Amino acid sequence: MNVIIRNTYEEMSRYAAEVIAAMVRSKPDCVLGLATGSTPIGTYRELIRMHKEEGLDFSQVKTFNLDEYLGLGMDLSKPYEQDQSYARFMHEELFKHINIKKENIHIPDGLTKNPEEFCMQYEEEIKKAGGIDLQLLGIGGDGHWAFNEPGSSLASRTRVEALTKQTLDDNYELFYCKAGIPREQMPHFAITMGIGTILEARNILMIANGRRKADVVAKAIEGPVTSQITASAIQLFSGGITVVLDREAASK
Ligand code: GLP
Repeated sequence: MNVIIRNTYEEMSRYAAEVIAAMVRSKPDCVLGLATGSTPIGTYRELIRMHKEEGLDFSQVKTFNLDEYLGLGMDLSKPYEQDQSYARFMHEELFKHINIKKENIHIPDGLTKNPEEFCMQYEEEIKKAGGIDLQLLGIGGDGHWAFNEPGSSLASRTRVEALTKQTLDDNYELFYCKAGIPREQMPHFAITMGIGTILEARNILMIANGRRKADVVAKAIEGPVTSQITASAIQLFSGGITVVLDREAASK
């Protein structure tokens, strides 16, 4: 496991973007697994800069996002803040700024009428695309990957998951609260890739910043492998692993 520690969020983001850019340059039709949350925003900004200033080409890149809130889908008629779907997040924070083709973007459909069938199809689509070359991951405050909350099987597949109080609190504060959306209106379920699905990627890039992540980062990387910290599955991963942390997230 390659653990890289950088002084600041900006430096962490630049390093992570460089890992992704290296994959895109060496395999222009690569399959990227992408993540949401506040952590990857700096990485996406850097990728956008590389696209605009250095011509980083996404025209053949395929992407699969980790997760989406159940009941939400992109609604461009609303202002960004009022549309808390991860589809909108990806559109605003990355996709609309780069030359990725719409048909190459895959995000779980939070508005699906049949979530169970959708989850099976999502797994099929990942397989059809040849699997994920590089999966970008953050880490939740309770140690989760995607929305694989504590207790999720480390062999889990794409499915509907109930969110924990901590995840609802964290994401409320970071996103919904700023938009003035009442907490009761937050979705309590999500579609998420499973830990087993994530472990099938060929490479993993995990990023984390800030003191509030220091405990879970230490537990995930150096603690026992446990379904109580689903990101600890990183220790079971047999492909290439890069973890990029800022100094505060690495402090424990
Ligand atoms: C959400 C996402 C995760 C993300 C986590 C951390 O729960 N489903 O994929 O890693 O938030 O978010 P943040 O980066 O905002 O701390």
